[in-house]
Amino acid sequence: MPLQLTNEQLKQIAARFGSPVYVYHAERIKEQYENLLHAFAGTDTRFFYAAKALTNISVLKYILSIGCNIDCSSVNEARLAIHAGFTPSQILYTSNNIAFSEIAEAKELGISINIDSLSNLRKSGEAYGGTYPVGVRLRPNIMAGGNLKISTGHSNSKFGVALEDLESILQVQKETGLHIRTLHIHTGSEIKDVEVFAKGIEVLLDLVPHFPSLEVIDLGGGMKVPYHPGETGTDITDLGRKVKEEFEKYEHKTGRHLQVWFEPGKYIVAEAGYFITTVNVIKQSGDKTFAGVNSGLNHLIRPMFYGAYHEIENISNPNGTVHTYQVVGNICETDNFAEDRPLPEVRENDLLVFRNAGAYCFEMSSHYNSRFKPPEVLVKEGQPILIRKGDQLGDLLHNQTQA
Ligand code: LLP
Repeated sequence: MPLQLTNEQLKQIAARFGSPVYVYHAERIKEQYENLLHAFAGTDTRFFYAAKALTNISVLKYILSIGCNIDCSSVNEARLAIHAGFTPSQILYTSNNIAFSEIAEAKELGISINIDSLSNLRKSGEAYGGTYPVGVRLRPNIMAGGNLKISTGHSNSKFGVALEDLESILQVQKETGLHIRTLHIHTGSEIKDVEVFAKGIEVLLDLVPHFPSLEVIDLGGGMKVPYHPGETGTDITDLGRKVKEEFEKYEHKTGRHLQVWFEPGKYIVAEAGYFITTVNVIKQSGDKTFAGVNSGLNHLIRPMFYGAYHEIENISNPNGTVHTYQVVGNICETDNFAEDRPLPEVRENDLLVFRNAGAYCFEMSSHYNSRFKPPEVLVKEGQPILIRKGDQLGDLLHNQTQA
């Protein structure tokens, strides 16, 4: 059984820090990372945690302490990573549609960069030639991922340089002497099927002969974790086996050794997170019973934005008679967290806990309706530590200047 926080621990945290509150379980993060190391043992693979899932500095420091590298999606995330203590060689920046000036900033930081447009590739070639190795993010024409909003590798995607532009990439390489060290793809998030990764490997390995200075194949993130009860995630043991098999075969055939990189976000932090809310109101409307909690899409947007499912537990009344509820928030918009969800009887003041709230939950929160962002707590060696205070009114006024 994977490590979990108990209802008792969660209740104590809510009593001490209030609710709503995000809670992260450090050892569960470590467990997920170690699962990856175990599944990929015997391969030359490096993992870069996709920081965009959750950037709290204490979480980043913890991820550094367990030996994982970091993948960033903005130069600010790279700066946060440096602030957390990562060294440039541990930091990767996979960019999309950025100004060349940001590539220049990333280069100043000395971190690895994956570049995703022909124009920036050319500018990098002209500026750095063979002096600064870079990666090329490709759009591999693979449809994958849990839904279209998180699918990035298909033929109409904004991400990456199209495979059809291979000749132009090679021209940049030839004309500017650009040192292309990495070929990168990220086809989407929540990819259950190992065959999708296998297809990506096949596409990239076919291209290797065009790139004499290539050392790394970066397969991005996207490993799926179960959100629905009874669902299964990506079989990472099978994925590890596939990577071993394909890269050993390739090395045997060509004599070229390539390192493999992955950038998992959800896989590392999603299941370590819990979001605790309190029921403000129980309301009957039409034929629905609404459980209105002291949160909303401002704190957890995934259900409304992606139609995402988060398991919800009534930890105040786990053995109550099951009824069906619309679990909703307090934002001045329809902000359903769950529709027609069977739950043990929900009463006002009960604590409802959202599971798998580690990835893209706090991180995508906002101040909409001028509501405060919730605090964050990290549980490490059984001890809850406040790692971000909840907001106060001053946080809403911060940076506003007088008209
Ligand atoms: N690498 C790149 C280049 C990415 O764009 C992403 C995610 C990752 C790695 C990490 O993917 P993961 O392992 O976490 O699936 N907010 C959405 C997910 C958006 C993912 C964006 N890119 C959600 O809440 O489902």
